[in-house]
Amino acid sequence: MPAGFQQLGGETVTGTLALSVFTAVLGSLTFGYNIGVINAPQKIIEEDYNATWVYRYGEPIPTGTLTSLWSLSVAIFSIGGMLSSFCVGFISEWLGRRKAMLINNLVAFVGGSMMGMAKVCRSFEMMILGRFIIGAYCGLACSLTPMYVGEIAPTSLRGALGTLHQLGIVTGILLAQILGLESLLGSEDLWPVLLGLTVVPTVLQMGLLPFCPESPRFLYIVRCQEHLAKRGLRRLTGRHEVDDMLSEMKEEKRRMDMEKKVSILELFRSPLYRQPIIISILLQLSQQLSGVNAIFYYSTSIFIKAGVQSPVYATIGAGVVNCAFTVVSLFLVERMGRRTLHMLGLGGMCICAITMTMALALLESIPWMSYISMLAIFGFVAFFEIGPGPIPWFFVAELFSQGPRPAAMAVAGCSNWTANFIIGMCFQYIAEICGPYVFLIFATLLLFFLVYTFFRVPETRGKTFDQIAANFNQYSAGGMMDMDMDLNKTSTELEYLGDENMN
Ligand code: GLC
Repeated sequence: MPAGFQQLGGETVTGTLALSVFTAVLGSLTFGYNIGVINAPQKIIEEDYNATWVYRYGEPIPTGTLTSLWSLSVAIFSIGGMLSSFCVGFISEWLGRRKAMLINNLVAFVGGSMMGMAKVCRSFEMMILGRFIIGAYCGLACSLTPMYVGEIAPTSLRGALGTLHQLGIVTGILLAQILGLESLLGSEDLWPVLLGLTVVPTVLQMGLLPFCPESPRFLYIVRCQEHLAKRGLRRLTGRHEVDDMLSEMKEEKRRMDMEKKVSILELFRSPLYRQPIIISILLQLSQQLSGVNAIFYYSTSIFIKAGVQSPVYATIGAGVVNCAFTVVSLFLVERMGRRTLHMLGLGGMCICAITMTMALALLESIPWMSYISMLAIFGFVAFFEIGPGPIPWFFVAELFSQGPRPAAMAVAGCSNWTANFIIGMCFQYIAEICGPYVFLIFATLLLFFLVYTFFRVPETRGKTFDQIAANFNQYSAGGMMDMDMDLNKTSTELEYLGDENMN
């Protein structure tokens, strides 16, 4: 093995592979940072909105207007994400994965600068527009990153490297929570720096991307540039002989050439893709409707209601648990598989949600229940990161072959952002109506997703894209056999089985 290369799970991790994955997940870090950054400095930024209003109109801002302006500043982020995630298919095919990430950084630069300059320009419009633009950046980044990483990763490390996208996100959230402390950047003077800092990882990514190879799968299967694909594969694997990998791609290309171009509509119409696209959407919904962002957007007020003494530090505690368990998942995902971890995560979250509800309901009569609810919230977040956090993001890229993958990522991304938006907008209202019982709604949804995963979601660990796609092809063509939950068969075996079934 050449010097400087690391052996991981039987695979060689070259410097180029490590650099490319690191560079890509800088986009995830930026995404996470912008999820977490808006929580702590809310009151201080609201004061500035008021100051601007007084400056312009000579009177304090009406409370209702301030609430609406703030809700808009928070929620417009998801609208930006929702709209841009829908374009990811087209953009990633047109520009390629690497150039799309490169150009996307310009979007982040504009968004970050606008938020950073909003205070000096005395303009909350700039802040709101900046949040929209950075949301648009995140919508693209959170599909481009798992797509690129999934395509350059060796099969046996696809899950572990895919989990790094989520690790980037949670690190970004934690960083924003810590920097957002009033004693650091969450102060009256420094909040523009806090928000503007989001440009740092994007500038770094722009500087590093030229040293990363374009996805060889994209170059070969979509662009038919065998020579360039080979060169990329050699750099990524550190091997001169890459014909085995190329022949696996050839098989995928052969299949893709037989199919016509896959549009978003086609994903739902064609029986070949219907099953995997429904699984993809439901996995994204399981991630968002688990209620995790109710914690990340509103943790401070949840901790206050739960009687916790220092809610800001408890929020940071949740951020630390979040990071720690993403690392746990990173090590487990190639051993235990996606399906098992996802079910374990959903089941654990469901139990924690029920515990939290009981603790909140008993808080009046038993004061130490505040500790139980805090532990239940930490447990909720921990189980989220074991499965439902990282897995849905890279699972979609795994379920589809090269042809339908970009359209599928767009649909999945858009479902994720829509559900994210709904939780962000509605949670506070529903919490007011349901009081301590609000998390029972999430417990019910979690149970539903657990049952769904058990019956419908196959295991993809260690399978090539071609094997995964072939299993669904067989499932849709035959209709007579059950889906192979282990996806153990190769496409050739399945073609043979298919013939047998027809006879
Ligand atoms: C996932 C979700 C994101 C959430 C985060 C929490 O990445 O997509 O919405 O905030 O996990 O760790």
